[in-house]
Amino acid sequence: PVIHPTARTRQEAEPMPYPTERPRRLRRTPAIRRLVAETRLHPRDLVLPMFVKESLTEPVPLQSMPGVLQHTRESLRRAAVEAVEAGIGGLMLFGIPTHRDAVGSAATDPDGILNVAMADLRAEVGAETVLMADLCLDEFTDHGHCGVLTASGAVDNDATLVRYQDMGLALSAAGADLVGTSGMMDGQVAAVRSALDGAGALDTGIFAYGAKYASAFYGPFREAVDSALQGDRRTYQQQPGNRREAAREVALDIAEGADLIMVKPAMSYLDVLADVARDPAVTVPVAAYQISGEYAMIEAAAANGWIDRDRAVMESLVSIKRAGAQIVLTYWAVSVARRLTAGEDLG
Ligand code: PBG
Repeated sequence: PVIHPTARTRQEAEPMPYPTERPRRLRRTPAIRRLVAETRLHPRDLVLPMFVKESLTEPVPLQSMPGVLQHTRESLRRAAVEAVEAGIGGLMLFGIPTHRDAVGSAATDPDGILNVAMADLRAEVGAETVLMADLCLDEFTDHGHCGVLTASGAVDNDATLVRYQDMGLALSAAGADLVGTSGMMDGQVAAVRSALDGAGALDTGIFAYGAKYASAFYGPFREAVDSALQGDRRTYQQQPGNRREAAREVALDIAEGADLIMVKPAMSYLDVLADVARDPAVTVPVAAYQISGEYAMIEAAAANGWIDRDRAVMESLVSIKRAGAQIVLTYWAVSVARRLTAGEDLG
């Protein structure tokens, strides 16, 4: 080996006894790196969020989320089969109705798009894949808020809980394994649990969006669900700077009967995720949602040639698992599952 002249001079003048620790030994070959990897990703860790829109006759690609579609009922079934074949852990369904009103009637209508599409998926995939749905009213209300409003326009917590109960029952009847309570109303997990139990739906679980922040990174999701929202969700979703508050929200959800806990968004909240995952009081599985804006940022930077897309995608997912998520919701679930199955390294 060629030793730099300066280094040789210094070595001869004063032999260096260090470094005695050489961490690079464990990075030398891909095989060694694989052996010592602290974080592994498996297709079953991944959940694919999917959008189905009532009025469509053809699937529509989303501008702000290249590669993601608003599905028709028919294209949803086909895409779900592909996702199952890729070996992912589950699907999370969002519905976009044609008719929107003040109380989000379409959410609780058994013939509403979310409920019929859930039934389609159940018929298509059988018990083989975990089926989940977002339990929230924002796709169904004409004002775009996650609940119903008071006369003065505030989101009415307790009136919303009644709507969530009915929505939970409708989704359970349609075949959902888990309902994702994402509205950040106080008491929503207890309310939905008691409604499910009261109807004998003891096996329908609650995937609680325990810590959910009022994030600008939901931006592309607005296009994905044709959101009607004016204003923001700051009176119900958490403010980004609050970390301890997440522990309180998560503790409440667990006490109310949450079967799984989610942190959302993921990448800007990895500290919160790590807190939740390490909290000894959190004995349910912990998930994180890599949301629309996280997807869009990486896709946009990659499309400009500014970052290596495939590596950035894998790194983002590994970082979310490293922070403590056992399950990751990601719009890349299928492509990443295929890459993992093909034996690709995690970076
Ligand atoms: C609420 C809901 C939202 C997302 C998932 N469930 C929107 C919001 O809270 O404003 C966002 C998901 C994403 O951005 O990928 N129904």
